Amino acid sequence: MDSRNQEEEAARETPADAGRRHTCNMTPGVIVTISTAVLVTGFLLCLMTFVRWTAAPEDHLVYRTKVTQLMRQLQQCQKERHDLTLMLRAATQDPRCSLCPDGWLWWRGHCYFFSVGLQENLQWNGSAEFCWEHDSSLAVIKDSAEMEFIQGVMKSFPKFPFLWVGLTDSQQEGHWLWSDGTNIQDYMSLTVEWDSDHRDCADLRGGGSLFAASCEAYGSWICKKVS
Ligand SMILES: *[C@@H]1O[C@H](CO)[C@@H](O)[C@H](O)[C@H]1NC(C)=O
Repeated sequence: MDSRNQEEEAARETPADAGRRHTCNMTPGVIVTISTAVLVTGFLLCLMTFVRWTAAPEDHLVYRTKVTQLMRQLQQCQKERHDLTLMLRAATQDPRCSLCPDGWLWWRGHCYFFSVGLQENLQWNGSAEFCWEHDSSLAVIKDSAEMEFIQGVMKSFPKFPFLWVGLTDSQQEGHWLWSDGTNIQDYMSLTVEWDSDHRDCADLRGGGSLFAASCEAYGSWICKKVS
């Protein structure tokens, strides 16, 4: 979705909508953390109770009473789990609680935009400008987990795309720098294939390989920003 659509959407919002937006101050991350903590605690309590009761041999009647209590507790745990699941689902599916704009993907504190859905190709500088206009920059890939995340998204596209990332050697031939000014090798061990004088911009392909391409070539791109 482009920014004009977002503005239109914002303009369509009633004051009630705006009020609701303010009430959502629980981010999915916080909810996931709380839910996980509650679930894990509940599970451990159930387990501890179960272990304590089953470990000590008791007479038949006491044992039966305790089993009944245990079953009740288990049902309570299951009910809580069910409620939490519903709450979590509601919170994560509410766009007002979303950490990223529409069409952007959240991963580990960042929002990613894969332009593939736009059906539009841009030169490297145009891609960088697009990201900049959307408060982001061409993706700087910092570790293999992030590379795997990006590769996973790329695999979901029907045709494996050629994606501009924030990597260029236009300042000094062969000296590849990420958009944040760091050297290509600073974060992880990466190299750019096919480097030559006229290929100063890097595109990302399958398997995490980076290829040098003419910055004037048209392609898709990945923007990234802090969520
Ligand atoms: C990108 O660079 C080309 C020249 O290489 C220029 O013609 C074009 O206007 C630039 N585009 C943007 C969006 O800056």
